[in-house]
Amino acid sequence: MCGIVGYIGKKNTKEILLEGLKELEYRGYDSAGIAVLSEGEFASYKAVGKLVNLEEKTKDFITDKFAVGIGHTRWATHGKPTELNAHPHLGESSYVVHNGIIENYAQLKKELQNEGITFLSQTDTEVIVHQFEKNLKKSEDAFQAFKQTISELDGAYAILLVTKAEDKKIFFAKNGSPMLVGIDTDNDKYFASSDTPLIGHCTDVNYFEDGDYGYVSADEIVIFDKNHQQVEPKFKKLSTNKLSAQKDGYRFFMEKEIYEQSHVIADTLLGRISDTEVIFEELDAKLFDGIAEIKLCACGTSYHSALTASYMFERYAKVKTSVEIASEFRYRDPMMTQDTLFVVISQSGETADTLETLKMAKAAGLKTLVICNVDNSSMVRLANTTILTRAGIEKGVASTKAFATQVTVFWMLSLYLAQLKSTLSQSAIKEQIELLRAVPSAVKVQDSMHERIKRLSKRYLHGHGFFFIGRDLFFPLALEGALKLKEISYLHAEGYPSGEMKHGPIALADPELFTIALLPKNLLYEKSKSNVEELSARDATVCAISPLEFDKADDFIQTKKHPNYMLEFFEMMVVVQLLSLEISVRLGNDVDMPRNLAKSVTVE
Ligand code: AGP
Repeated sequence: MCGIVGYIGKKNTKEILLEGLKELEYRGYDSAGIAVLSEGEFASYKAVGKLVNLEEKTKDFITDKFAVGIGHTRWATHGKPTELNAHPHLGESSYVVHNGIIENYAQLKKELQNEGITFLSQTDTEVIVHQFEKNLKKSEDAFQAFKQTISELDGAYAILLVTKAEDKKIFFAKNGSPMLVGIDTDNDKYFASSDTPLIGHCTDVNYFEDGDYGYVSADEIVIFDKNHQQVEPKFKKLSTNKLSAQKDGYRFFMEKEIYEQSHVIADTLLGRISDTEVIFEELDAKLFDGIAEIKLCACGTSYHSALTASYMFERYAKVKTSVEIASEFRYRDPMMTQDTLFVVISQSGETADTLETLKMAKAAGLKTLVICNVDNSSMVRLANTTILTRAGIEKGVASTKAFATQVTVFWMLSLYLAQLKSTLSQSAIKEQIELLRAVPSAVKVQDSMHERIKRLSKRYLHGHGFFFIGRDLFFPLALEGALKLKEISYLHAEGYPSGEMKHGPIALADPELFTIALLPKNLLYEKSKSNVEELSARDATVCAISPLEFDKADDFIQTKKHPNYMLEFFEMMVVVQLLSLEISVRLGNDVDMPRNLAKSVTVE
């Protein structure tokens, strides 16, 4: 939620900051801003809306001398998306950018206002810069004042602050929100919320830990840890491959990512299956010793993949499994027993609610496992054990390939457990592995299928709502299909278990109610079909997705006749993703950056 960048050096500071923000725009894009301090003078620009507006405003601004600069792209938490609320926020002679939430900002703001400080914005962030300047007046040492300020903040933050009092330094602090610093071959320093903006500039990067704070200058990076001990940066080599972050000729990142699913699933399988068994080198089988239950916790799409896991874990591995929405789990005083393996699932590894549940589980002494797409993310760094999903950088805010790889990992993990517990025979495992190998081809987008969905999409641009319905594993897929459509089309959609429609929602049935029915041939076909017939008898408009012809449907998207429902699941996943995409395109929406959303939700 929000992205921050920083740079200190002699290169073109403005371009470096804007390019960095472009890479982070998926994290929030309701306003953006930069502040550059060079030869003792500040220049600052802000603009509401996407980054192009800021680029336009800064087109005549030239940065060709040594400078320190900070930038921010915002996803509003406190205060509307206006220019005044955009970062960087100004004190008297300092600017700050911040990602996260300052929980005690109201109290600090009140105290500062009582002392005569005027606030220009409604944000929580502005208190940081005023508090810093208040402390600076007392200490006259900018770093001490910054340190004092950080100790007075409660909440989550990644902060960069620049001040005329020390005009050749950037002060930083990190607690709960992601941030790293990198160096290039000239020893210039760069900050960012994730490593993508630094690819192409930096050779080495240091990921800050929670509680880290300090400063950088032209010559040094000074880091203090949460115990106020000075620590050396722990540099890691940064990848140089930015190709994966480009659109490759597709109209949208989401489209590219749907098409990429075949090869990222192949990557996810790589080295993890032989002909006869599932192998997870990253797992120590002891992780499952004494475990009677698996609890899965996540948000959004990752929650839907966790739901699919609950079907597979119980069916194949006979392990009791429960699934929790992270934001609920946090505050409901949950029972946490030591015989539970606590699994969190997250594409980004930064989602605040999910991260917090992981911390809770660790504090309660539970064994933890993270299923994540981003190595070095906060969750990965915290967990006992991690399985990486290998989906590659996912840029579309609406998650697609991350979901596909999560479900693949869960399928493999359920078989791994089935092996451990001998709940499936050798031949059944072998059969399942053959099916796993067939997934990359099942999710390959066929031109004819994409064309058909493109054509059909024009009939689904209105109506009073969508129901995506399915049974068993196809229920979480229905939830996911509805979430995809909601996110990028702004049309109301719900996912529902097919058999539950008659308990209420069927009252909504009329020609303007669109039902997207998932009808796999190999799983409860007859039962699901009856549920769809009930809807079509009440004149709902039905679009059936099935390998079998279905004459009660208004529209029919025919999928392949796979030998098993898991392959049907993966093909139907692609169909619902493409349907949402094409509806959104026809409605003229921004597919990759839908309104009000952010890629990485690092606030609760
Ligand atoms: C997916 O399309 C969403 N944008 C969203 O629900 C997302 O899955 C959720 O915020 C969780 O994110 P995570 O997987 O990075 O933790």
